[in-house]
Amino acid sequence: MPADFRVIGFARREKTDSGWRDELRQALDQFSRTKPVDEKVWKEFSQHIFYCVGDLTDAKAYASLEKRLSSFGSEPLRRNILFYLATLPSQFGEVVEQVERAGLLVKDGQKGWQRIVVEKPFGHDLESAHQLNRELTRFAREEQVFRIDHYLGKETVQNILMFRFSNSIFERLWNRDSIDHVQITVSEKLGVGQRGGYYEETGALRDMVQNHMLQVTSLIAMEPPVSLDAEPIRDEKVKLLKSIRPLTTENAAKQVVRGQYFAGTVDGELRPGYRQEPKVKPDSNVETYVALKLFIDNWRWSGVPFYLRTGKSQPLSASEVRIQFRPTPHVLFAAQCGQQLDSNALTLRLQPNEGISLRFNGKVPGTSLEVRPVRMHFSYDAEFGAYTPEAYERLLLEAMAGDATLFIRRDEVETAWQIVDAIRKAWEGKPLSNREFYAAGTWGPVAADDLLAQHGHAWHEPLVVK
Ligand code: BG6
Repeated sequence: MPADFRVIGFARREKTDSGWRDELRQALDQFSRTKPVDEKVWKEFSQHIFYCVGDLTDAKAYASLEKRLSSFGSEPLRRNILFYLATLPSQFGEVVEQVERAGLLVKDGQKGWQRIVVEKPFGHDLESAHQLNRELTRFAREEQVFRIDHYLGKETVQNILMFRFSNSIFERLWNRDSIDHVQITVSEKLGVGQRGGYYEETGALRDMVQNHMLQVTSLIAMEPPVSLDAEPIRDEKVKLLKSIRPLTTENAAKQVVRGQYFAGTVDGELRPGYRQEPKVKPDSNVETYVALKLFIDNWRWSGVPFYLRTGKSQPLSASEVRIQFRPTPHVLFAAQCGQQLDSNALTLRLQPNEGISLRFNGKVPGTSLEVRPVRMHFSYDAEFGAYTPEAYERLLLEAMAGDATLFIRRDEVETAWQIVDAIRKAWEGKPLSNREFYAAGTWGPVAADDLLAQHGHAWHEPLVVK
């Protein structure tokens, strides 16, 4: 942080500056990654923290916020403002309007900089996303709006572009000639737990696929941008999302599998089914698992299936991308090794055990001609030490610096909703069938395996590197 800055909490509850600092201090003691908290650092940092009481719907509250800011003296402290809206999305429009009315947000960028940071959900379908985006940009320019998808703040996700475009050996294989298919898994051991109320309105498709999964897909599959600036990267991501073959209702029925967990055991511990979780309807049809097969209709990827899956209450928490290369002809080894020859695979482990592994075949030492797969592992911990910044550290820093590369542009959000809306439409009015349930602690419904089996493929369990 620069020497001079302010963090101002703005909310309804009455608090003093020092009361709020105490609260934050307690939270730090509980959640900080570096414990115990360094007293000296906290003392210095906490001097920059202030609190301003006010109701978001009350113009007078914004006037007192403005007064507070004016009292800070120096021009940058009064003018350069990052508004982080930790509010309901339905309040975004009003807050932006109120800060503009109070003279705190200047659209033409003439007086310092002002930016607005918002979190998902960005609407619940294309239409509501349109509406939300319209509200956000009524009093702010699109360039002032920073939409967070925290996956983009993860080191391993940022590394996807570096890895692809700074290594000549991989990028030249990164296409339909060499790649058989791609698997993207984001599995979570945890169930829905206390978030039943939110989840009932969302489901896995909106919660994970519309944002995190499609973001990872676009980074894996996009064309090289003309530069590493925000707009060229985001242009390529949008282009990629637009190349995903639209799903008709008929295709969605064949290419998308949803699921919901029932009671089971995770790590030997009994877990309730989704319908027994707090605030979940006993006959809920909300999906806690989705698997889909996507095709990208462009020159690079024509005919290559992209399999995506995500779920709650799964056996492992792991996010990874597996690039499965085409098999070699078996002519040389078939006589001795039968069908044993494995195809090469490259696995990007996004979390945990962050790293990359390459699987290839090697001769088993000895006189017989035996070939079996072996692996090369790169591990972030071993190479760079254990410190990997939290996604939010990076994202907040980038928002302060005004670099929008790691944030989602309006057209990205809307294109992703188009893809997801088509799937929801196919599910409309169709309750979950027996085949769509899976026991907590398993890898999802059997139908998800069939999705791959049709092409002679199978899901690979996320790689656990010890
Ligand atoms: C959030 C979803 O966006 O991402 C949660 O709302 C999910 O349901 C979480 O658990 C996963 O994030 P991470 O960083 O733990 O993989």
